[in-house]
Amino acid sequence: MTDPQDASTGDPRVIGETARRRTFAVISHPDAGKSTLTEALALHAEVIDSAGAVHGKSGRKGVTSDWMEMERARGISVSSAVLQFAYRDCVINLLDTPGHGDFSEDTYRVLAAVDAAVMLLDAAKGLEPQTLKLFDVCRSRGVPIVTFVNKWDRPGREALELLDEVEQTIGLRPMPLTWPLGIAGQFKGLIDRDSGAYTAFTRAAGGATKATATAVDAGTIAAQEPEYWRDAQDELGLLDEIGATWDEKAFLAGTATPVLFGSALSNIGVARLLDSLVELAPAPAPRPDVEGDDRPLAAPTSGLVFKVQAGMDKAHRDRMAFLRICSGRFERGMVLTHAATGKPFATKYAQSVFGSERRTVEEAFPGDIVGLVNATALRPGDTLYAADPVEFPSIPAFAPEHFAVIRARDAGKYKQFRKGIEQLGNEAVIQILRSDRRGDQAPVLAAVGPLQFDVVTGRLETEFNAPVMLDRLPYQIARLTEPAAVDALSSQSECEVLRRDSDGEYLALFSNKWRMDIIQRKFPDLRFEAMPAGSSVT
Ligand code: G4P
Repeated sequence: MTDPQDASTGDPRVIGETARRRTFAVISHPDAGKSTLTEALALHAEVIDSAGAVHGKSGRKGVTSDWMEMERARGISVSSAVLQFAYRDCVINLLDTPGHGDFSEDTYRVLAAVDAAVMLLDAAKGLEPQTLKLFDVCRSRGVPIVTFVNKWDRPGREALELLDEVEQTIGLRPMPLTWPLGIAGQFKGLIDRDSGAYTAFTRAAGGATKATATAVDAGTIAAQEPEYWRDAQDELGLLDEIGATWDEKAFLAGTATPVLFGSALSNIGVARLLDSLVELAPAPAPRPDVEGDDRPLAAPTSGLVFKVQAGMDKAHRDRMAFLRICSGRFERGMVLTHAATGKPFATKYAQSVFGSERRTVEEAFPGDIVGLVNATALRPGDTLYAADPVEFPSIPAFAPEHFAVIRARDAGKYKQFRKGIEQLGNEAVIQILRSDRRGDQAPVLAAVGPLQFDVVTGRLETEFNAPVMLDRLPYQIARLTEPAAVDALSSQSECEVLRRDSDGEYLALFSNKWRMDIIQRKFPDLRFEAMPAGSSVT
């Protein structure tokens, strides 16, 4: 074992271990089958247990958070932050993303920690509003996307029509890797486009949902299903003609997507999806720092905090920061430096959250996710490093479009209220804005989507015992501005300037674009700068 304090010794395994990592997230509209697919993926693979990168440590069983309890019945909790499992000779890290577009800022942060995404579509519905929003987040991060068309076991749309929708709506060129024999609902099996091999899927008798896969010779299936076979051959010919074939460069550049068909529930095409991720999805690459220089994978340990979550452990109400390892080997107990403050950060309590269980992480490599317990100083976007200083670009906050003033309902609970607001702000559950005019008793919440307000009020009441009153404000637009705008705009109507807790930036809020343009003309020397949009895609 290397000395945990001495990160500079390096570890010869880093490059090899990194090449085995595949770190991705699934994005989908609610109900498309993300939970079902997550379970199917994990069940296919050998879940890493006492051997391997994550060492099991029982004794914490039964300690689950409120939201995990809701998922418990499903066996593997899909609310868990990260599932890590072995498949073939790879280590797969599957990160959870919120399904609703109102939380696209959270999704954006998770996507800062992955190397690829699986876009899951319901065969009957195609691209749905939330998929579009989440896809847009993927595109803005340049994450390569693998598409899985799910629920092919039941009636749905035509395969070519779905592909056309993907290309026309989001401009992503589809490159099917498999092709279904039989229309959705009359599904017989999958043709592998590369080899031409055919696999038949048959439901087991007795109502079992899992289908069994059998390799069937092309001549045999052509004789058994002449019409479907002919249709499929015609469609495959068309795909070849239009050049819808595998193009690695276009996939990595985020302009084309490999497409697979299947059914998560019936376990059809799931192994093929895993094979594709292992074979086609990129392993972690060196991450650029704030200067734009790549941090080599073999450099001393470094990582990016992409998510902070509190209340995961009901017994302790602790706070966990999720760190994506970007370089070097992480070893539990090593002392890292928090780039934002220059302070040391001890990693004695490093864990992975798997389902309702937590396990101690002894070591991790680039691409892996480590949960750091009681990380009160850490915020999403922070860098931790060993030895060689580095700072990765922080994760930008999205332009909020919904605003509300929040106050404690009960003056006697103000202390709890203040503590709760501070914590939720640190977790980046919502943006917190303040001004002298409004005072600390009445901060303004700024959200990308209105469901964020529900999370804040719910958590303040249940976790902090601080019931609140929320009054929506009639603003729709926020722009980054400068301190001088506070006084300049104080006498203007339908606008207001507040300061953001997380980074001290000043935000000017306007009732609408028309009003903003007038103010801008009135104060031509003031800067009003747009932020990345998270929810404006429809
Ligand atoms: P989500 O996490 O994306 O919200 O979706 P989830 O997995 O919960 O799936 C939503 C519904 O779609 C579930 O049905 C699930 O069983 C079903 N489903 C998922 N994959 C497939 C598939 O490949 N084929 C078919 N036919 N159905 C699929 P439910 O009735 O809402 O719940 P349940 O009672 O079946 O659990």
